[in-house]
Amino acid sequence: MASKSKGKALVTGASTGIGAVYADRLAKRGYDLVIVARNEKQLNDLAARLKSDTGRNVEVLTADLSREADLKRVETKLATDPEIALLVNNAGIYANAKLAEHDLQAIDGMIRLNILAVTHLASVAAKAFSDRRRGTIVNIASVLAVAPEISNATYAGTKAYVLALTQTMNVELAGAGVTVQAVLPGATRTEIWERSGGDIDALPAEIVMDAGEMVDAALAGLDQGELVTIPSLPDAADWKRFEDARAALRPNLSLQNAAARYKQRSAA
Ligand SMILES: NC(=O)c1ccc[n+]([C@@H]2O[C@H](COP(=O)([O-])OP(=O)(O)OC[C@H]3O[C@@H](n4cnc5c(N)ncnc54)[C@H](OP(=O)(O)O)[C@@H]3O)[C@@H](O)[C@H]2O)c1
Repeated sequence: MASKSKGKALVTGASTGIGAVYADRLAKRGYDLVIVARNEKQLNDLAARLKSDTGRNVEVLTADLSREADLKRVETKLATDPEIALLVNNAGIYANAKLAEHDLQAIDGMIRLNILAVTHLASVAAKAFSDRRRGTIVNIASVLAVAPEISNATYAGTKAYVLALTQTMNVELAGAGVTVQAVLPGATRTEIWERSGGDIDALPAEIVMDAGEMVDAALAGLDQGELVTIPSLPDAADWKRFEDARAALRPNLSLQNAAARYKQRSAA
């Protein structure tokens, strides 16, 4: 018989890849699940497997999160189901579109999913969880949030947004009983690569992680109370130094006068 439930985890983009691994690991940790994506068959197959492997209850919510009406249904579920205690804001796509190629349809679709849907769900969860004074929000960003030059401008920009959103939510939700985490995966072996016309096997094997190892590390980071988890980073002090350097800029980021180097020199 299944142990007592830890509550429900709502995982977006759970039909495959990183989201499907989160669903598996969270069911094994004792969460009931609400799994969200577009591919109903894949969701139903995953739900059947997880129910039989773990005895947990799994609800399937088929939704295209880039569509307003579907997103609204998922928002309503998050807002009104008091058992939901964890959101994994994971669904995302990589539009392989350079700005000058001007594929605005692809870029708009990515922004709707990677930014708009992520923001709506984070906002609804922040309100619902702080009202209940309990809950966890995990936002899946990317290492490209801090290394944008190795990607294209728009995908990296969506992931930098997710990192900034999470860092700010952590301040806004301080004392509200809500835990937030940004996960910054490096290259991870999932379908996102083929879906966007890429080939993960073209990358050196030593920079590619399996999704299972990535998610297990991200959950370990969550258990350790990390706000930002970079699964492959060997030395956590490197991230601390990066954050300390950012904090050191703060006293001088907004001052009454321009810096001396920007003052016009009078003509000799
Ligand atoms: N893999 C990597 O190298 C990597 C690295 C850094 C960050 N990430 C991030 O990790 C997250 C998960 O990516 P992944 O690698 O696991 O990719 P994936 O294998 O392609 O999975 C993406 C998931 O999102 C769902 N999805 C896509 N469009 C959707 C939409 N419009 N509405 C609802 N669900 C949608 C997909 O399901 P359906 O097609 O069934 O809707 C699928 O379940 C993304 O945010 C991605 O940016 C990935």
